[in-house]
Amino acid sequence: PPRRRRSQFSAMTSPAPSTASELKIKSVPTKPVEGQKTGTSGLRKKVSVFQEENYLANWIQALFNSLPPEDFKDGLLVLGGDGRYFNREASQIIIKIAAGNGVGKILVGRDGLMSTPAVSAVIRKHKANGGFIMSASHNPGGPEYDWGIKFNYNSGQPAPESITDKIYGNTLSISEIKVADIPDVDLACLGVTNYGNFFVEVVDPVSDYLELMEEVFDFQLIKDLISRSDFRFTFDAMHAVTGAYAKPIFSDRLGANLDCIKNGVPLEDFGHGHPDPNLTYAKDLVDIMYAEDAPDLGAASDGDGDRNMILGRQFFITPSDSVAIIAANAQMAIPYFKNGPKGLARSMPTSGALDRVAEKLNLPFYEVPTGWKFFGNLMDAGRLSICGEESFGTGSDHIREKDGIWAVLAWLSIIAYRNKDKKVGEKLFSVADVAREHWATYGRNFFSRYDYEECESEGANKMIEYLREMISKSKPGDSYGNYSLQFADDFTYTDPVDGSVASKQGIRFVFTDGSRIIFRLSGTGSAGATVRIYIEQYEPDVSMHNVDAQTALKPLIDVALSISKLKEFTGREKPTVIT
Ligand code: G6P
Ligand code: ZN
Repeated sequence: PPRRRRSQFSAMTSPAPSTASELKIKSVPTKPVEGQKTGTSGLRKKVSVFQEENYLANWIQALFNSLPPEDFKDGLLVLGGDGRYFNREASQIIIKIAAGNGVGKILVGRDGLMSTPAVSAVIRKHKANGGFIMSASHNPGGPEYDWGIKFNYNSGQPAPESITDKIYGNTLSISEIKVADIPDVDLACLGVTNYGNFFVEVVDPVSDYLELMEEVFDFQLIKDLISRSDFRFTFDAMHAVTGAYAKPIFSDRLGANLDCIKNGVPLEDFGHGHPDPNLTYAKDLVDIMYAEDAPDLGAASDGDGDRNMILGRQFFITPSDSVAIIAANAQMAIPYFKNGPKGLARSMPTSGALDRVAEKLNLPFYEVPTGWKFFGNLMDAGRLSICGEESFGTGSDHIREKDGIWAVLAWLSIIAYRNKDKKVGEKLFSVADVAREHWATYGRNFFSRYDYEECESEGANKMIEYLREMISKSKPGDSYGNYSLQFADDFTYTDPVDGSVASKQGIRFVFTDGSRIIFRLSGTGSAGATVRIYIEQYEPDVSMHNVDAQTALKPLIDVALSISKLKEFTGREKPTVIT
């Protein structure tokens, strides 16, 4: 069958917008398509798959079939995306099906652009019923690469599994798509258009988000830091959605020079890049920050603006440390937390650095499975303020998504606060100083993650099965190299708010000295299986804190590779990414 048929909706043309009160709705017959189950964050596939006839339309209709009518009839939805290839066509398909199903109004970011955190913020501010995010996050974009769609609920959080399971169920029985017979909406012009009782408003994707950031942070404090002649900052938007946010926020509002912003124009293929802010893919930023005349603070964000990486001068802040350091300094440096955070949380594979901060500050602490959606209930219940994941996600309960620019503003606030009384010429307290001081206080949790991307699924699944066997036979006290086992399990989480249970969330080997080895298969890949190994070791001794993480973790990494027989199962000699 032809791989790239045009959707029948994009070809539809009709006369100028009607203001009649009747909207013409067409019923388009369709058949189920296999494989529309959503992963860790939405449905992600190659663009060519989404271009198959009705592929996206089926999923969108299945979503409306899964929601109770009161959740969208005459309601308000938000639509945004990361600017990747296919978003333009997808926007029109989504708008027409939303109208066809009786949605009252859609707020769309100009040109279909709106970062994931901004969509969450806009849903909350406008009390919308939910929102669509057109993004495959950090996966490459363009005709040959990935596309994706996520649905967020009315408090701005990713739809819970109960909804995504329903959507999947409905994709298997779908027979009809309801489509409004309206022309393509011009997404380049701000303003409201109506078609009968259906309204589309094209909005500036930045203003509501910026307003929220100004409530959370002390912008004057940050502005004073950025304007110092002895402080330099750089931000790499990786040609993704934060390109639309960087200039209005960092430059226009906070006074950074325009040349501090790198790769600041959102492009449909992210400039052939892989918009994932880590040491491998954010190479431009890494080169700048490891050069001799490096700026003082460097940061990057991913395709849809929810991830972040923070670098000091020749210094990498591992995401597990980043959330711990933000939590430890939040009350002082960030007005939103002036009464102290309510609670802290991390995903299971994230290092235990945050646990130590929670203990010292005497705060409730939670360990959830990988996936930002698991933080939402705790936030809604008022039990959680600051959380993070090793996968370069950091955020708080100001919204219900992780937030890249928020993390950058948090770090700028911490550095600004620590230096606010320093005169020009006095040595500034640097990003590295903040980290070293943190380690001296709490000890250092050495952490590294090895990724083996796009492995054959069969071998990867067999390896996980093999490890499951192994943990079922393991006993406390078993030796693994020089490490003695405390326990091994497959992580299960019971949500303390609604009691829902998520099982099989990662195989962990926890040793008596607190070291951990964790194995998981990624839930966000779009082809084959990605194996992740997470390695962690706690080091209280300050004299050891400056050792390179890979050196410190070498013995544990060797244990991980040997017990899992990774090479035998996957045929891989080396990881594709190390963070
Ligand atoms: C997305 C999710 C995160 C998750 C990350 C890695 O960014 O929003 O919550 O930690 O993917 O997930 P994975 O299943 O690929 O390890
Ligand atoms: Zn993302």
